[in-house]
Amino acid sequence: MTVLVTGAAGFIGFHVAQRLCHLGVPVVGVDNLNAYYSVKLKRARLEKLEALPRFAFAPLDIVDKADLLALFQEYAFTEVIHLAAQAGVRYSLEAPDTYAQANLVGFLNVLEACRQHPVRHLIYASSSSVYGANSKLPFSVQDPVEQPVSLYAASKRANELMAHSYAHLFGVAATGLRFFTVYGPWGRPDMALYRFTRAMLAGEPIAVYNQGDMARDFTYIDDIVESLVRLRLRPPVPVPGCPPCQLFNIGRGAPVPLTAFIECLEQALGVKAVRNHLPMQPGDVPSTWADIGALAEWIGYSPKVTIEQGVAAFVAWYKEFHRL
Ligand SMILES: NC(=O)c1ccc[n+]([C@@H]2O[C@H](COP(=O)([O-])OP(=O)(O)OC[C@H]3O[C@@H](n4cnc5c(N)ncnc54)[C@H](O)[C@@H]3O)[C@@H](O)[C@H]2O)c1
Repeated sequence: MTVLVTGAAGFIGFHVAQRLCHLGVPVVGVDNLNAYYSVKLKRARLEKLEALPRFAFAPLDIVDKADLLALFQEYAFTEVIHLAAQAGVRYSLEAPDTYAQANLVGFLNVLEACRQHPVRHLIYASSSSVYGANSKLPFSVQDPVEQPVSLYAASKRANELMAHSYAHLFGVAATGLRFFTVYGPWGRPDMALYRFTRAMLAGEPIAVYNQGDMARDFTYIDDIVESLVRLRLRPPVPVPGCPPCQLFNIGRGAPVPLTAFIECLEQALGVKAVRNHLPMQPGDVPSTWADIGALAEWIGYSPKVTIEQGVAAFVAWYKEFHRL
């Protein structure tokens, strides 16, 4: 019973691997520790994981198929939680090749590995960005998703279609999760919460896009981890004539206006933000809001953490980590 967590030195992968180990589940974590953001932060997460008796780390690039297959051969994984990817909408306008490699070739390699060394369940990260230019809210997994507005979104939608084909052809049981703006301690430095916190503590202005007329369905990391732990043991139920694959939204189900989010951070930091109003960014979308009904039904998903609690927990971690 060994679980593979790809992207284990990343934000979500770190938390999931840690929780599984605490539950007594042996975990192998994979990461290439790339320099998209602070490698120091990735190494600090890894250091915590490596202190856990049930955790083993394999430094590996999922684009390298031979290495990945050898790892599957060695461990005979029961489940795979695939989180390694090139994340970030804006960077996909600058470095599209990175997305093609990690998100398309890398994901194909994971699917191939699961085909050649069958696992009970493959869970993989998709994204709310697949909803692209959709204007109907809340976003539902039943909605058409044919209007990606960034290559990142297109790569995540491609993953969903690739998983469908491997479920259909080879019976790879797969669950895709459309994550909605995940945040919390050990979070990503390229995301708004981290960037705003750093800027506000330094007395620098924060970039507020679209005149602040935006909203995000922020999802606290512990609610994500709890769902992944439950989902691991709930692969799609085989239905004659249907491939064993499924998709879920995983958000809080409550969009927070950007202005309210900034006020919440001001409260937690005790610092007033200097707002630099800028136009909407290419590739960005004004609002996200997850319909979480399907996940509630499947695993009793019921997100617990409010934006005030979550932002306060992030700020406490940030100050401790940066010794402020
Ligand atoms: N955090 C969010 O709000 C959010 C929202 C939607 C989707 N997602 C998706 O969830 C997953 C995890 O996101 P995260 O926020 O933890 O991002 P992250 O960047 O912190 O973690 C991803 C990890 O994968 C590793 N990685 C990248 N390419 C790799 C490769 N080729 N081989 C091996 N390792 C590689 C990175 O080094 C990193 O540590 C990603 O697939 C991301 O696209 C995240």
